[in-house]
Amino acid sequence: MASRVYIAVSSFARQAPEPLNILKQSGLGVDINTAGRRLTKEEVMGNARGYHGIIAGLEPYDAQVLEALPDLKCISRCGVGVDNIDLEAADKKGIKIFTTPDVVVQPVVELTLAMILNLLRKITQQDLLMRGHQWQRMIGSQLAGKTVGIIGLGRIGRKVAEILLLLGARVVGYDVHPDRAWAEGCGVSLVDLDQVLSCCDILTLHLAAKAGDHFVLTRQHFQAMKKGALLINVARGTFVDEKALLEALQEGHLSGAGLDVFQQEPYAGPLSSCPQVVLTPHVGSFTQESRVAMEMEAAQNIVGFFNK
Ligand code: 8YV
Repeated sequence: MASRVYIAVSSFARQAPEPLNILKQSGLGVDINTAGRRLTKEEVMGNARGYHGIIAGLEPYDAQVLEALPDLKCISRCGVGVDNIDLEAADKKGIKIFTTPDVVVQPVVELTLAMILNLLRKITQQDLLMRGHQWQRMIGSQLAGKTVGIIGLGRIGRKVAEILLLLGARVVGYDVHPDRAWAEGCGVSLVDLDQVLSCCDILTLHLAAKAGDHFVLTRQHFQAMKKGALLINVARGTFVDEKALLEALQEGHLSGAGLDVFQQEPYAGPLSSCPQVVLTPHVGSFTQESRVAMEMEAAQNIVGFFNK
């Protein structure tokens, strides 16, 4: 009997038919999430039961979900983060996990840059004023000469650093396992977390998303930052205490934030009413080019697994 694959990513093959064709032509039985949104835990347990492989988005795969899917042999993430998967439970059950770590780099780096430039030049704020028929010029500031702090210097953090350096920013970075040769070669100062916080004008988070990681920026961290600093988070919502961020913004301690990810998604909380915050609905890797590339790779990974 052919192995069966459940595609939990509702937007799969919307940009191009090839990723779905790869699966079908390989002889796998394929079904797709038709809900048009991210599945809940209960839906994953119900919909994916009986399947041998899953092409996964950000829906949860904790120990209870994996237990409810006894036939599952492989999860192929369409993306890089694995914070939605209990890796230990998957390992115990012999479930193989694949990710698409390289294709997400460029779009996430570009969104990071867009957030930084938007905040520095107050593009969204002025756009909203003009839509209200107000011609009100707001003074901006330049990236060149600013100090950008990067927490997490993996594939994405390193590329963000390289581009910011080209644009004339100074970059300081913090990572638990930094690539010292890379940092030295391109002129990034490696410092500890306290130093990153206290010296940067702009802080951007690029930590890896893994279940059980407990890095969180709290009120104490925000207080340690320079007055007027900006925060960018296109990594994961769990890395920021949103209540503390809102307070830091309302008190004027931070002057703005660019957020693509939230503790609870879809997000509709109070940060959306803050004019100095730019928000996007978790679209870091959601570009035409990267979606197709991610889906192709996720499909190839699962086909390779079942046809080996
Ligand atoms: C995707 C992401 O949108 O790669 C990740 O971990 O958060 C995003 O690139 C997500 O994986 C949904 O497919």
